[in-house]
Amino acid sequence: MTLAKTHASSLITGLRSVSIQVPDMALAETFFTHTWGLKVSDRTSESLYLRASGSDHHVLALHRGSKPASLKCVTLRAASQQALTELAQRTVKAGGKVLQEIAPNVEPSGGVGVTLADPMGRIYQVVYGDAQLAPVNEAEAPYRLAHVVLNSVDVPASQKFLEDVMDFSMSDRTRVMAFMRCNSDHHSIAMAESDNNALNHIAFLVPDLEAVMRGGGRMKDAGYPIEWGPGRHGPGHNAFNYFVGPFNLVIEYTSEVEQIDDNYQPGQPSDWKWPDGRMDHWGISTPPSRRMKDAQTEVFFAS
Ligand SMILES: [Fe+2]
Repeated sequence: MTLAKTHASSLITGLRSVSIQVPDMALAETFFTHTWGLKVSDRTSESLYLRASGSDHHVLALHRGSKPASLKCVTLRAASQQALTELAQRTVKAGGKVLQEIAPNVEPSGGVGVTLADPMGRIYQVVYGDAQLAPVNEAEAPYRLAHVVLNSVDVPASQKFLEDVMDFSMSDRTRVMAFMRCNSDHHSIAMAESDNNALNHIAFLVPDLEAVMRGGGRMKDAGYPIEWGPGRHGPGHNAFNYFVGPFNLVIEYTSEVEQIDDNYQPGQPSDWKWPDGRMDHWGISTPPSRRMKDAQTEVFFAS
């Protein structure tokens, strides 16, 4: 079956949300609503669904779990219901597994979904027809997710799954990372070379640079200092501040993500070399903290 290519990916229109199992729901709710800037969209006895100011029903789903926190799934939105069938077929062909067959989604966001695992056990839920909310006007709060970065012991294989199954395209390859896109955002998922398959970080898109900076102050006041930033990335050209949130979740405020199309020429590692002492365009931040690097090895996909 060939589907019309209306986005960078013919099958996936974007990244919607991330689901995490956390050991302390009360702490998670207080942090993500009062400090991080999300709002409660829905809740059940075991789960909390948090929205940003954009139209997604939720961008973060928190589920009651044990220590350490674990990643339940990364949720993407499909281009059509037919795309779910195509994704399931392609997953099996690529050596992955269909963890949950296509079925109505029981979560409050509704729609139809399928849950897939890549050969290394990364879990992707793909939904279609999920609830959309009226956006609200917020100057500083996250608007939607910008990207998720996942560590990989085999970046080429993880990248190939996104390309062959999800129809993602590579925007840039640095020495460490493969930046993958499915729409006009420079990247929605990136794979980072590592000796593990942990969550690297989740980036929340805020309206502008001012919101990235004010978010840095708000987090500092709440006892969560900036672990890397402020800075402006090479690939994607987005502004950033990184933090280690509760349960060692590494989270980023970002803005001004580069918008590209299929004429974009992917850069290679030799195109993305910084001068000595630099890790971003501005050069005013110290490098990522040890604490952040350690946290980036501690949250894994639930088995
Ligand atoms: Fe990021």
